[in-house]
Amino acid sequence: MSLDGDVGPRPKRSLQQLERSQESAFAALAAVSTYLDSDEDLPDFFARLSATIAELSHARRAAFWRLGPRGTLVLQPNPHGFAADSPVHTIRLQLGANGDGAVERLVFADELGLVKGSSPALDAIWRGLGLNDVRNSIAAAWSAGERRIGAVAVYDSQRGFTPQDLGVLRLVGVAAGLVWQYKESEDELGHTAVRLEEAMAARRHLLNNIAAGGDEARRRFASALHDDSLQLLTGAELQLERIRGDAASGHQIVQLDQLKHTLRKVEDSLRRLLTNVSPEPLQLPSDLRGAISERLESMRIRAGIEPHIDSRIPDDVPHAIQAIVLKNISEALTNIEKHAHATRVMVVTEAIDGGIRVEVGDDGTGFVVAESVRVPGHIGLVAMRERAQLAGGWCRIQSEPGTGTKVEFWVPLSL
Ligand SMILES: Nc1ncnc2c1ncn2[C@@H]1O[C@H](COP(=O)(O)OP(=O)(O)O)[C@@H](O)[C@H]1O
Ligand SMILES: [Mg+2]
Repeated sequence: MSLDGDVGPRPKRSLQQLERSQESAFAALAAVSTYLDSDEDLPDFFARLSATIAELSHARRAAFWRLGPRGTLVLQPNPHGFAADSPVHTIRLQLGANGDGAVERLVFADELGLVKGSSPALDAIWRGLGLNDVRNSIAAAWSAGERRIGAVAVYDSQRGFTPQDLGVLRLVGVAAGLVWQYKESEDELGHTAVRLEEAMAARRHLLNNIAAGGDEARRRFASALHDDSLQLLTGAELQLERIRGDAASGHQIVQLDQLKHTLRKVEDSLRRLLTNVSPEPLQLPSDLRGAISERLESMRIRAGIEPHIDSRIPDDVPHAIQAIVLKNISEALTNIEKHAHATRVMVVTEAIDGGIRVEVGDDGTGFVVAESVRVPGHIGLVAMRERAQLAGGWCRIQSEPGTGTKVEFWVPLSL
């Protein structure tokens, strides 16, 4: 309340001022918040924001200054109202380098006040750095919570800056801080998404290797066997043939014939090994259901185990997933044949939760699962679980001596 008796128009004027500054504050917040749902680049956003701030605070120029890693304030690109050749573009404001600590007070405490329409400490800094034409200026901290991002400054008000202008600027500083943090987390999210995609690609690669099932290793072994060992052996046999031709005594000939016979046997056994380790082409029938039925039928004939099958699977299952499903079913059935002494086996497959669930059950002897998954050299059960998990699914084995066994796994349809 003023003491000069002129009480009439004052409350009305301050009410108008309040309304105006509220409008400005609202406009400033609206300008900042548009970034959150626009696709604008950050430099464009700051250009537009600087222009809006200059207008709202009745300034001719506006700029954001960002705190760099070495305690320097650097101009954020696209300030408003500065000529392209203005020294402002190369200015570095060093924290602590100014005797009066004005920059620190601004950035860390936001306490550069207003004296007669300007901030004299700030004006002195600008002029000291070559911005000789600055008439007046004010600035506010650019921050997000405890985090100090820098400062926002406006320059050259015709009528001098008012407390309302400073209020608007402080609001902008806080709002722009939130946007900055938002943008940083968006960037971080982008990087995380890229890393995740890389990890997914590596996993898909691994999965395809697993689906191919060690064929590559077998192929290398088979070709080494064929190209090196067997050829050396053939060479040795030919050499032996020549020595036999030159042999003097009948006794030597008998010994050489025995040696030749042994070498033949070695060669035969190596060739048998070769046919065993040569990778069969991954036999994938056109439908999984057909493959499973075939496998069960040959088991019925060989081991007399009566099969039951209930199979509902979509047609378009990716190749790698089909291979994994088949390998796991095949391992479960081989185990039944080898270990279970079962009379019946039941295979259920169904499409569920965006993947395929498979259950293979038998009425055989059963076993202690916890013991059998740790036996060195027996990796069938562990491999089943690993294949399912690598595909992004799961595998459970339930069994107890005397109760039969149930192997259940689920793999997603997409890699
Ligand atoms: N369906 C089953 N019924 C009974 N025992 C089983 C069955 N499946 C696995 N087992 C037991 O678990 C052990 C580990 O199986 P696995 O990891 O596939 O290795 P491997 O088949 O080479 O022995 C088997 O040796 C067997 O004792
Ligand atoms: Mg096995």
